[in-house]
Amino acid sequence: MKNKFLKFSILVIFVLIGIQGIPFDLTNPPEQTVLSWDSPHTQALFTRACADCHSHQTQWPWYSHIAPISWFTKNHVDEGRESMNISIPDHAELDEIEHQIHKGEMPLWSYTLLHPEARLSEIEKKELIEGLNKTLSAQTEPLLPLQ
Ligand code: HEC
Repeated sequence: MKNKFLKFSILVIFVLIGIQGIPFDLTNPPEQTVLSWDSPHTQALFTRACADCHSHQTQWPWYSHIAPISWFTKNHVDEGRESMNISIPDHAELDEIEHQIHKGEMPLWSYTLLHPEARLSEIEKKELIEGLNKTLSAQTEPLLPLQ
């Protein structure tokens, strides 16, 4: 029994070491646009709760480089950037953004486990929705591509 457990543990360790060799690209592509925020407060809330997955300003903590965590992280960031990305001339619908924040669907709950600072109070949710509304609707000619 003890022996089996030891063999299993060694196998797990080898698998964990082995998967670190799988190449992974955790990088931030260049910013293609600059958003003019309606206020530093909106920008701070977005940076705290959303920017890691919805911009090219992702902070990659040390554990995000370790497989298999890196696979989940990469997947969330890729999918997040596809849905809404403030670093490219494209963004999600305002009512969809409002819905996601209001319902507490975003930020993803799995993210807030490791980033408790990303949790938003009811007041902060309201402020972020209003701020993003102002910021994004003021930029319908908006997100100008950088020269
Ligand atoms: C941990 C990464 C992560 C964080 C942090 C995060 N999101 Fe997302 N977001 C995703 C992923 C992944 C998707 C696409 C899959 C989905 O809808 O669940 C998404 C989708 C969205 C969508 C599109 C939904 C749709 O169905 O069209 C909006 C809008 C959005 N997020 C807004 C936000 C806002 C606003 C914040 C901050 C309050 C935020 N997200 C924080 C990962 C994240």
